[in-house]
Amino acid sequence: MLLDVLVLAAGKGTRMRSDLPKVLHCLAGKSLLGHVFSSVQALDNAAINTIVGHGKELIQEAFANQSLNWIDQTSQLGTAHAVLQAIPALRDDAKVLIVYGDVPLIKSSTLEKMLSGVDDDAMALLTVELVDPTGYGRILRNTAGDVTGIIEQKDAAPEQLKITEVNTGVMAMTAADLKTWLPKIDNNNAQQEYYLTDVIGLARAAGRHINTYAPEAVEEVEGVNSRAQLVALERYYQGQIAQNLLASGVTIIDPSRFDCRGELDPGQDVLIDINCIFEGNNRLGNGVVIGPNCVIKDATIGDNVTIKANTVIEGPVTLEDDVQVGPFARLRPNTVLGRGAKVGNFVETKKAKIGPGSKISHLSYIGDAVLGSEVNIGAGTITCNYDGVNKHLTEINDGAFIGSNTSLVAPVTVGKNATVGAGSTISREVPDESLAIARAKQRSLDGWKRPEKK
Ligand code: UD1
Ligand code: CA
Repeated sequence: MLLDVLVLAAGKGTRMRSDLPKVLHCLAGKSLLGHVFSSVQALDNAAINTIVGHGKELIQEAFANQSLNWIDQTSQLGTAHAVLQAIPALRDDAKVLIVYGDVPLIKSSTLEKMLSGVDDDAMALLTVELVDPTGYGRILRNTAGDVTGIIEQKDAAPEQLKITEVNTGVMAMTAADLKTWLPKIDNNNAQQEYYLTDVIGLARAAGRHINTYAPEAVEEVEGVNSRAQLVALERYYQGQIAQNLLASGVTIIDPSRFDCRGELDPGQDVLIDINCIFEGNNRLGNGVVIGPNCVIKDATIGDNVTIKANTVIEGPVTLEDDVQVGPFARLRPNTVLGRGAKVGNFVETKKAKIGPGSKISHLSYIGDAVLGSEVNIGAGTITCNYDGVNKHLTEINDGAFIGSNTSLVAPVTVGKNATVGAGSTISREVPDESLAIARAKQRSLDGWKRPEKK
């Protein structure tokens, strides 16, 4: 059967106290709505419709690169009113799944389970037992255990408030049923809102069975209404990622001090020390060791690479096998370090291809550069790549030795096995196997007397 998904995201999110629409706030580097989309996009044959109101332009802009169907709800008169706006978009022979844009951790496996409980005779409802059910709609059941309705907190009698099984808001039914029931819902309740939860009574009246399902974990159905709830869910989610990595053979020294805000695909026997942050897409080979306080984004890292403390990688960056980086190194986009290369402390690289076995051990800037193999760059070497208008290339060939405190004024080439004397400013080609020295000659004045104090 076809599946029409409705994502409700028109609400304001007042309690976030933010200019950003609530569903665009990020959890693990991805917007709340982005998480929901990922879950529903994994379902078979799903057409996704998102109901938007507050912050609509910003939300649509954030997902401009995806083909999604947006539906306007210009005033927010309740969850049933939100769904009503989507009626024209629903296909008659589809199942409809309703989820909330601010419930980010809902799993597609849970949704699939629910959808299996929808047919012409039944609808499905996701409920959960909460120790503190305050604020949620309570699930009403008869003595036979069948669901008979949902009562909102503000409409509930004292004994109903004691019920701990609550409505998660996630439900599914046939489009035919939803289309029949929705227009019948009124707003005669404490909040004068059109409650989607009223479909339960209508489903009962139509003789439908209400199949209920529970998520694997409560956090799957927790909504984000405040920043406190957002960071609590973030910690839960990070904990899950860390546990999965531990199970896959990665040592994370302290799972409570680990953050993955993207993808991390590790080999075996990887060790990650405390306070590391991974962003974007990262692939780590076997035996990779990452020291504390590293920030790593979009890196492809080979086997047995060591990244020492406080290194920042802003990819795309590729580190081949046996590379060593850091401590305190900064590798910027389009850095490629060949096998066994070494980049040490206070070195910045950008758009730099560095050949196998080459070393830049300390205090250097290497940008717009191509280095061959076994090149040695002395401390304080700078590629002067920018003339104020354009960027130029520095080329240093195999086996070259660049003395400390050298400025390489690009475009410039240093030949194979050439040597540059310390303190040189190199602005012309250095031929293969030669020595270039470009610095003021030293003078010594004999018997020099220091000035005396007057
Ligand atoms: C709703 C449920 C409640 C459930 C709870 C779970 C109803 C009447 N109540 O209550 O039973 O326990 O969720 O979190 O459905 N929205 C719109 N347009 C609107 C109103 C809401 O798009 O006019 C969206 C909001 O952006 C949000 C979602 O619907 O994503 C839920 O709305 P909210 O007002 O938070 O519902 P609750 O009162 O929490
Ligand atoms: Ca809510």
